[in-house]
Amino acid sequence: MERVIMDVDTGLDDAVAIVLAAGSEQIQIEGIVAVCGNMGLEYTLENTLNVCDLLDITAPVYKGADRPLLRDKVDAGEFHGKTGLDGPVFPPRKKQVTKGLGVQYIIDTVLANPNQINLVAVGPLTDIALAIRVEPKVALLAKRIVIMGGSFSRGNVTEFAEFNTYADPEAAQIVFTSGANLFLFPLDCTMQVRLSKERLASYHAMHKKASTMVSACMDTYMYNYERFNQGLPVLHDPLCIAFLIDPTLFGLHRKEVTVELAEKKEYGRTLAGKDCTNGGVSVALQAKTEGFWALMDSALATLQ
Ligand code: BDR
Ligand code: CA
Repeated sequence: MERVIMDVDTGLDDAVAIVLAAGSEQIQIEGIVAVCGNMGLEYTLENTLNVCDLLDITAPVYKGADRPLLRDKVDAGEFHGKTGLDGPVFPPRKKQVTKGLGVQYIIDTVLANPNQINLVAVGPLTDIALAIRVEPKVALLAKRIVIMGGSFSRGNVTEFAEFNTYADPEAAQIVFTSGANLFLFPLDCTMQVRLSKERLASYHAMHKKASTMVSACMDTYMYNYERFNQGLPVLHDPLCIAFLIDPTLFGLHRKEVTVELAEKKEYGRTLAGKDCTNGGVSVALQAKTEGFWALMDSALATLQ
């Protein structure tokens, strides 16, 4: 059983990551922190609460950072819609945000449970960087920090940069060089996992609460990917959860990773340094896609 704090900018694929976590016996969601990213925090927090409510997730949901450390805010509304989660219709929400700061919650929980908590960060790394800066022991005492972000080939926002890293490059640099037990899922890996029309049709046919929500999210995602000639939609964020359920699904390569912060055109680009056996970041470059979809199908079959 892996104990997990998720840091999310919900987000169509973030919602699917929460579904995979909620539908998997091997994952225990301790808490969720919403951060600004795909849309402003007022939206990502509301979306996170709605998704948790629908899935009957009782874990607390906290408010994270409402802006990046230094740069101006950017969003990904073209892909996720103007609410950040266009598509699903939620019943009136009962779940409330838990009082207190998400960053403090991360610090307190990691320190109280040394080497037991996995931080799964699938949005910009603002909250995780703040937690590490306020309490450096977070880097030492988190069991793992599992991150969706970066690209070692093409970017998806600029020619060079991937969205989560571009949306807070300074935070990413802090986290990547923190010495924590880091696992990174960049575009090089996530772009291998695309949702087929047949599988989406099979999710539509399930007629359950969770599958209906996922199908509505993925309809929007598919529409927007087609609109921008991007092929079939990519399930970036759920891969971090899939890794915790079954690490054998991924090919990992450990290397030093930094972020371009100076050069304007390449701002937010992830840069691969030396290969290493100790330290650095375990970067996923290959995914066994059928294994991933088996986990997704099983989570949806399990949930109501
Ligand atoms: C990442 O950016 C966001 O739009 C997605 O939710 C994912 O976390 C992919 O670049
Ligand atoms: Ca995300």
